[in-house]
Amino acid sequence: MSDIDNLRIAPWRLDTEEVLGEGALGIVYRGTWTRGNKTTWEEDVAIKLLKDPLLIDKAEAEVLRMSRLDHPNIVKCFGISFPNETPWIVMECMTGGDLLSYICNYAGGMPVDTMTQLAYGIALGMQYLHHTADQYHGDLAARNCLIGPNNTIKVGDFGKFDNDYEDSYFDWNHGQVCAKFLIYFSLVTIFTSL
Ligand SMILES: Nc1ncnc2c1ncn2[C@@H]1O[C@H](COP(=O)(O)OP(=O)(O)OP(=O)(O)O)[C@@H](O)[C@H]1O
Ligand SMILES: [Mg+2]
Repeated sequence: MSDIDNLRIAPWRLDTEEVLGEGALGIVYRGTWTRGNKTTWEEDVAIKLLKDPLLIDKAEAEVLRMSRLDHPNIVKCFGISFPNETPWIVMECMTGGDLLSYICNYAGGMPVDTMTQLAYGIALGMQYLHHTADQYHGDLAARNCLIGPNNTIKVGDFGKFDNDYEDSYFDWNHGQVCAKFLIYFSLVTIFTSL
């Protein structure tokens, strides 16, 4: 059995409940995963239903990569399921939702010590990812950081999924600049050269 076969979850074990959010690649549901064999138990999970069946290979590679990571500040990926032609990715459910919405909806403005605690959690997750696991994220953004109980935070949703990392970088005077930051760097260059 290959590594990815071990991560396959039978569709009957998964139930989707309400929608938690939607992104470019899929719709995320809160759901339950029936685990175990003779004795079974239900675990709360988040399930991303991908929109595009062509993403199967990339989805499997991403699930394999994420499932090997184990850190308190990285969202746990449990596996992948194929109830129909588009894959479902099963991951830990983060009850506080994404950091972007959390900051925007925080009543009265977020205190500095809460911001510091969240930033520190993200930094620990990224340190583990880059230095211990020797992986890159590729799409670190507030919408991809997820909140748990007591302001715990975990980094999720790596960017390599829909976009080859190397392809998204340009050589800028022999330095590598990510495509998504090119507009920013271009504007800075224009304004500082005026
Ligand atoms: N593991 C999770 N636990 C709880 N909520 C989640 C989880 N993963 C995603 N969500 C919710 O679902 C929303 C959509 O996530 P998704 O990753 O599909 O889209 P996105 O990050 O907004 O955009 P992109 O398609 O660029 O990743 C998130 O903003 C978040 O609120
Ligand atoms: Mg995302």
